[in-house]
Amino acid sequence: MAPEAPWPKAPAIYQIYPRSFADSNGDGIGDLVGITARLEHVAGLGVDAVWLSSIYQSPWADGGYDICNHGAIHPILGTMEDFDALVAKAHGLGLRVILDQVLNHTSCEHPWFLAALAGDEAMAARYLFRDARLDGTQPNNWISQFGDPAWKWAHQRRQFYFHQFLQCQPSLNLRNPDVMAAHRDQLRFWQSHGVDGFRFDAASSYLWNEALANNPVASQWVREHNTGETFNPFAYQEHLHDMLPEASAHYAANLREWAGANSWLMAEMTVSIRSYEVAMAFCKSDRLNAAYTSDLPEGSASPATIADLLNRADPARTVKWLSSHDNPRHASGKPGEAAFLATLMAVLPGPWLIYQGEEWGLPQPDLAKDEVTDPFDLMYWPDGPGREGPRVPMPWDAEAPHFGFTDGKPWLPMRWNRAELRAVMADGGLADIYRDLLRFRREQAWDTAQVVRHDHGDDWLTLCLETNHGRVTAWFGWPGAAHPVTHEEAPLFSLGHDSGFRATICRDDSKGTVAA
Ligand code: GLC
Ligand code: CA
Repeated sequence: MAPEAPWPKAPAIYQIYPRSFADSNGDGIGDLVGITARLEHVAGLGVDAVWLSSIYQSPWADGGYDICNHGAIHPILGTMEDFDALVAKAHGLGLRVILDQVLNHTSCEHPWFLAALAGDEAMAARYLFRDARLDGTQPNNWISQFGDPAWKWAHQRRQFYFHQFLQCQPSLNLRNPDVMAAHRDQLRFWQSHGVDGFRFDAASSYLWNEALANNPVASQWVREHNTGETFNPFAYQEHLHDMLPEASAHYAANLREWAGANSWLMAEMTVSIRSYEVAMAFCKSDRLNAAYTSDLPEGSASPATIADLLNRADPARTVKWLSSHDNPRHASGKPGEAAFLATLMAVLPGPWLIYQGEEWGLPQPDLAKDEVTDPFDLMYWPDGPGREGPRVPMPWDAEAPHFGFTDGKPWLPMRWNRAELRAVMADGGLADIYRDLLRFRREQAWDTAQVVRHDHGDDWLTLCLETNHGRVTAWFGWPGAAHPVTHEEAPLFSLGHDSGFRATICRDDSKGTVAA
């Protein structure tokens, strides 16, 4: 498959967190040369593309998502030549390359922001600066998504500035023509280096209400459904004015215009209420290919969570995923459940996002407070959900010192269990199941199927898919579920496990062979 060929409709995408993938020079930090050297493993799984989390110059206050030069590679990760070599190797292996684009904010060390602080008004207009109220307090009640007030005093300007994430991530004014032109050029610059698609960070937060109205108090329902946990006061407000997801979705037409028709574009949604409705708005025809919300991992991909997705969204436009550099590793320490959930992700039509290491069922590592560097985890220690855990470096070799990740000291402690790794890395382990599933979903056209019917109970789910090769029924049973009666002698795929997680996928000529 040559990358010049059109993108598959429902790509399987492997997410790489570059700092933690593979270190080539012994400084303990993963880098681009390290990634290039390990791409055969990724291509060998049968995915269509890799998505690289932020690789740009950054003070690394927010894991690389605080960027001070979007057109330059972080020197710790490598050079532009290293990047070109990575893209060339990926393309040679039939893998497309997706880059993160953090358009919503910059680092406070970005030259634009520094110039704004120094009094450059045109640069200040690229952000949101506002005077204090008469009593010196912040302009309104907005709260950042990390939970502290969304306004930080910039004494140099005698003004507050708005930040939706960390204080050192000032939010950009995306309606500013200079910002728009810079973003357009930035996308085209990376395309000129062979990039095939983009992942847009925090896209539902792009725009805000310029009248700066206060957000209302969240109703009990909104509070329960808001993004984030109850330990984060972000959930206490209804975010009506500090983010305008529908207007941001409309804005996504600009991203399409800048990136062109052939680029594969997906957006991250950081809203929880109306999450799928907003995601679908981002995917209208002149906009993006797909969007993803945090509903699946937050709902542990339960039967009700899947049914909710199918009721509210077009699965062809929703990226299926369970773990990421922000979300704890799923099915931690439970290989049977990991295989089961991979089967569920593979059967659901639409794009599928696989986070580095989930093919080996890596568990969520425990880190001590003094080992953690992520500001969000530290802010809420020990309540935090554990963003740093999934960033613990990848093991490549169960026997090697530092598991083959580095010759030096890994930037986070690696305490993987060698016996467990040996088992999952052996032939017939979880990665082989991922390989089979990735092949089946394409060969059997599950990836482009229509879900014609779905049904669920507390511990089971059935999906009836109309594929190009006929109708298929998939049954998923969580532990304790009674297996349905089936007349199928040779299922297309089946999975049974001592842990009680079972799945059966059958051809369904009788339009209803499997009933729970
Ligand atoms: C996204 C990123 C996350 C980052 C945030 C702010 O959610 O995935 O890592 O902290 O945006 O950029
Ligand atoms: Ca390195």
